[in-house]
Formats: sequence, C-alpha cells, structure tokens
Amino acid sequence: MNHPAMQGLNLNAPSYVRNARLIAWVADMAALCKPDTVYWCDGSEAEYQRLCQQLVDAGTFTKLNEAKRPNSFLAQSDPTDVARVEDRTYICSANKEDAGPTNNWMDPAQMRATLAPLFDGCMQGRTMYVVPFSMGPLGSPIAHIGIELSDSPYVAVNMKIMTRMGKPVFDVLGVNGEFVPCVHTVGAPLAAGEKDVKWPCNKTKYIVHYPETREIWSYGSGYGGNALLGKKCFALRIASNMGRDEGWLAEHMLILGVTNPQGKKYHVAAAFPSACGKTNFSMLVPPAGFDGWKVTTIGDDIAWIKPGSDGKLYAINPEAGYFGVAPGTNFHTNPNCMASLDKNVIFTNVALTDDGDVWWEGMEKDSGSLPAHLIDWQGKDWTPQIAKDTGAKAAHPNARFTVAAINNPALDSAWDDPKGVAIDAFIFGGRRSTTVPLVTEARNWVEGVYMAATMGSETTAAATGQAGVVRRDPFAMLPFAGYNMSDYFQHWLNMGKKLAATGAALPKIYTTNWFRKGADGKFVWPGYGENMRVLKWMIDRIEGTGKGSEHLTGVSPAYEDLNWTGLDFSAEQFNTVTSIDKAAWVKELELHAELFKQLEHHLPKELGETKAAIERRLAA
Ligand code: OXD
Ligand code: MN
Repeated sequence: MNHPAMQGLNLNAPSYVRNARLIAWVADMAALCKPDTVYWCDGSEAEYQRLCQQLVDAGTFTKLNEAKRPNSFLAQSDPTDVARVEDRTYICSANKEDAGPTNNWMDPAQMRATLAPLFDGCMQGRTMYVVPFSMGPLGSPIAHIGIELSDSPYVAVNMKIMTRMGKPVFDVLGVNGEFVPCVHTVGAPLAAGEKDVKWPCNKTKYIVHYPETREIWSYGSGYGGNALLGKKCFALRIASNMGRDEGWLAEHMLILGVTNPQGKKYHVAAAFPSACGKTNFSMLVPPAGFDGWKVTTIGDDIAWIKPGSDGKLYAINPEAGYFGVAPGTNFHTNPNCMASLDKNVIFTNVALTDDGDVWWEGMEKDSGSLPAHLIDWQGKDWTPQIAKDTGAKAAHPNARFTVAAINNPALDSAWDDPKGVAIDAFIFGGRRSTTVPLVTEARNWVEGVYMAATMGSETTAAATGQAGVVRRDPFAMLPFAGYNMSDYFQHWLNMGKKLAATGAALPKIYTTNWFRKGADGKFVWPGYGENMRVLKWMIDRIEGTGKGSEHLTGVSPAYEDLNWTGLDFSAEQFNTVTSIDKAAWVKELELHAELFKQLEHHLPKELGETKAAIERRLAA
C-alpha cells in the first residue's frame, strides 16, 4: 500500500497488515526518515538467521565458535555508545510539573522542532525495519503492543529475543487495535556509495518520550535501553503513565516464584536499582539447608502489575528475554544465568577468546585463572599483564548478554501465563554500606511506600569517579518513572487504598540491603544464594509464623529468627548487617528531608507523616 507522502518509496506492507493507522504512520515516518527500503519483520527464525548473517557480513557481529557457543554472536559497539544516556533522556509532557523535578523536560512543541531536522533523511542509505512487538503474552489483558521503526538490524534481532516479536502481533492488532509508536534511528545516514561503519551512531543523542500521545522517539544511539525501545522507554516510562491513568503499575522489578518443600508457592516482585543483582536474585539457587525449596524466574527486570477482581495484584513480565550485565556473572554468583548463556545468545561488549568464545571479568572465579590472551571489547589485545599495567578491562563494565527467557533452566512454568501471577510480597533493595538493615518489613502499606520512596543507593567509583555517594533512587525508578515522582508515590498510595477496600490482604512490603560493610570495608553478608535465608523469613512472616521485632522503621528478624543451616554466619556478623545506628539515622532523615524538599510539589502528606513518626521514635 502506498501513501501520498511516499513519493515513490514502496512501503512493502504485507497483506496481513490491516491496521490503517499503522500503515499511515509508517508511511509518514518513511517520508520523514527517507530510508532506501522498508522491511516488515515477521519474527521468524529464518529472518533472525538472515539478519544475523547480514550483521556478520557488515562486521557488526562476530560469529562465535559453533562448538563452544552455538548460534551466538558478539557485537562490539562504538566506545562512545555503551550505556543508557540518562542526561539525554526526556519526558516531554505538556506541563513541566507533570515530568517532575527528577526528569529532563522540554516543551513537546520545542522538542518536535528540535527533532524534525535530525530525523529528516536520517535513514538515508539504510533499511527501515518495522518491528511489531507485544510487551507481555500476546493477547493478555495485561499486555500492550508496540511498533518500533528502526534503521538498525542489531535492534531488530535483539527485539526478537527481548519481546514477543513478529507476525502474530498484527493479528492481535487487527484493524483498529492500539499500539505505541516507537521511532529509532542510529542517526547515521549514508551517502550514495558511502561505506558503513561497524556500529553506526551519532554523538548527538535524544531519547524522547511524549507521555500524552504515548510516543517514543530515539536518536543517535544503537545501545540497549536507548535503542531497544520496548524495554525502559515503553515498558517503564510510557507504561508508568498508562498505569497511572488506568489503575495499574509498571515497575522496575523482577518477579520470582518460590515454592516450599510442601509445594506451596509464593510470588515476590522486587525492585533494585540498576546493576544491583536483580537478574541474580530472580534466578537464585537455594543454598545448603534449604532442601526442597525452589526459586523460579518469571522476570528479571520489569513487572506490569494489575489488580484482579479478587483484590489481588497480578504481575506479568512484559519482556521475553534478558538483557543482563555480563561482568561479575559466573557459576558462583548465578549458575542458572550461566546455563542460560550456553547457546543462542547475542553478547555486546564482552571480550573474545582466542578460540572464538566469550569472556568477561568474574569468569576467572570459575576457571581459577585469567586467560593468557583475549581481544577486548574495543578490539584490542588484552593480557593479564596489560590489565595489570593499564587497568584495561577485557569486557566493558556494562557489557551485556541478550538471551531468550526460555533458555533459563529456572524459568517459572507460569512465566508466559496471560493472567499473570498473584503477588504476595514486594521487596525494595538499596545498596548501602551503612545505616539500612539487612531486611525490614513495613508495618503497613504507607510505611512500605515511604521506605521505597526514600530508597538510596551508593554510587560506585566506576560510574561516577566518586564512591559512596548516596543517590536517592525512589522505587528504583529514578531513571524510569515517566511522570512526576510525587504523583507516582500518590498512585502507589491510591492503589493500596483501593486494594484494601476490597478486603483482600495486601502484599507485604520489605526493604533489603545486601551491601552493609564491616570495619575492614568488606561486604559482610554473603549474598547471592544465601539471600534465600531472608526470602524464607519473608515467607514465614506471610504465613504468620515468622518472628521479628519492631524498631525505628519497621520489623526485622533477630539472629535466631533466620535459618542458618549450612552457613557459618555469627550473631556478631548478623549484628553488623542489622544494627540500627541512631546517629546515622538522624543524618539519613536529613537526606530524606532533602529528597522531600526536591519533590514537594504534590508530595503525599502521608510520607511527611511517616517521616515524623520515625523522628518521634528516634527522639524517644
Ligand atoms: C537495565 C538497567 O539495563 O536497569 O536493566 O539499566
Ligand atoms: Mn533494569
């Protein structure tokens, strides 16, 4: 079908695409971006193989050793395009206040005027891929459809793994179905005859969301959340707006199932800031002393949660794959993840071994030694000596794997269930070397919202050059809330009220902190699989059998309230990770006050009241 604006470019829309709004929009975007051709992805295996081969031929992909890592590829990005660009990410709501003080904002008309010349002709010399995808099981009442137009075949193949992508999406969309339009360009048009580079991108970057019209426009980056628009842009920033308007939640949360030896199953959704071990927690292997317990993964990064008619909250994982951080992943920290990565993986910015396999920092813990030679993520020689002399990392610290959820041996049988799973507990976990105890249960929903709203995480020296600075990351949503953070807190409070009105038991809310350090500066809590001990305590609390005592900010277990079988962890060590230092909490509350000052517009009064109650307990 052709559109008047197309001036000769054939849209190539397959006959099974019947949605007139979609076809008109693709025509408009093709007229603006001026690609050489338009290609509609069908999501088939043959298409995936063809595009991967095209990426190999273009030098973007290196095919890995088929015997060691079947059907897997390594991409090495431009060194300037290696992570999400929060400072280039915008929420362009009509009113600045609706984006709130934690988001970059620009007036939508001004942003459209800024982007128009950048998108004009941006796909010249390239193919525009039309990528149809469903966030959530196809046809699920919790799912939503997006269409990404991208000039990056790397995006198309990653979207095939990360979402339910392809032809069946058009059937669900039908003639009149709704979709979120997502336009992405690497911003590197090719002149006639110009040779492409391995990783095209542009030093100018814009990751733009229009919440009122539910649109996403991304310019200049080919990497991760900047380019795979179903993930952070749609499933969190745009979906959080949808959730606010429609009465549901779009959260930066893993979802796991935990089954006890009697076969009773619970579901937990857990929010941790980026790079704080969400994938590890979602694939946790119970340690010694937990025979018969099983943890299964529903999702590792994002949860969409809707109230059911029974007053329970039902969660789905809108994604179909994992885009996880590779460095630090090994058979000790996450054996299920390592098993997931044995075939059918796209790796980005890890190192290449001499026998055509991949390597990243942390793998030496499995093999017992460093490889003698590698090609690092920038294509340079790497040896242990070079690393020692220069500090060069073999893999970029934000190197990633893209892998389908079905590769995960711990995948939950309900991971794809359109109904979702009923949530029994929420966990909010910060990264704090002091102050915040290992685990705290909120006494009620409002106290839980307060703890989540004031969550903090210490920056690492690698990211900011300054270690130990606490960045407030409310609900682990700081870079992902698509509207005013205080309104988002209010939405959580409203959800609690609505659920309580049904008479159903609300999910319990917990905060955790795996990261307290001892006087020697080392982590005290062993983490990883041992986090099961804390998870089990939460389940005991849900069952009404778990003991705990009330303190400043909620309820925490005593040493004897946790199961220690199989772990040598003393009461003294436990005290180091759980003690409440009143002086530290006085300072902590000053930081909460700073946050609340920043967020004062529309800040729910309940949060101020909860803070005052903590202050009273502190003074008592
Ligand atoms: C992610 C992130 O990639 O949170 O999941 O940054
Ligand atoms: Mn994330």
